[in-house]
Amino acid sequence: MAKRLKVAVLISGRGSNLQALLDACGDAAFPAEIALVISNVADAYGLERARKAGVPTLVIDHKAHASREAFDAELDKAIRASGAELVCLAGFMRLLSKGFSEAWNGRMINIHPSLLPSFKGLHTHRKAIEAGVKLHGCTVHFVTPELDDGPIIVQAAVPVLSSDDEDALAHRVLEQEHKAYPLALRLVAEGRVSVVNRVVKILGADDAGIRLVNPAN
Ligand code: GRF
Repeated sequence: MAKRLKVAVLISGRGSNLQALLDACGDAAFPAEIALVISNVADAYGLERARKAGVPTLVIDHKAHASREAFDAELDKAIRASGAELVCLAGFMRLLSKGFSEAWNGRMINIHPSLLPSFKGLHTHRKAIEAGVKLHGCTVHFVTPELDDGPIIVQAAVPVLSSDDEDALAHRVLEQEHKAYPLALRLVAEGRVSVVNRVVKILGADDAGIRLVNPAN
């Protein structure tokens, strides 16, 4: 069997995207495997998910470090020691230092709950409803030092329904996150993703065959 790409996943909370990655990597034919899950929060539920899947876990508490740089240095050391070649941020609620982002440039990806570049930062579903957009979604992108700004690998769109509140919309987007993240990881692990002038090119990927229009008529 071909060598699988070793991945470290960084989380802070419930870890439903981590679960999607664990499930994908649970298939021996998937081109990536999770070498380590790191949380900056000791009681993050995602740690439980990793343990159940038999994946090594580590807690690195940001509050125990004097500076962002010191915390990031500890992260860096642990990731390298695990043998991971790619970092997946999955609900990791810490800003990373410029040094760390640059060290992992092109080897760190994140999932964000909006169609970037719209709605960077927090409360993306509220912002989408307030802006009145008719389509919303999620983005998997490379991480750069600027927040939610790196080259886009995969996006999935959902309609915003007139009956939606934040929770209903978040739920619809989350279902797509759980598909988009494993897809992006597979494409990266297969070596099919390259970045040219900040734009991701994907070797042999099929463009979506249908358009999504909202309202439908
Ligand atoms: C997701 O909505 C993700 O897009 C965002 O944080 C949330 C994490 O959820 N970055 P989970 O911990 O993966 O369930």
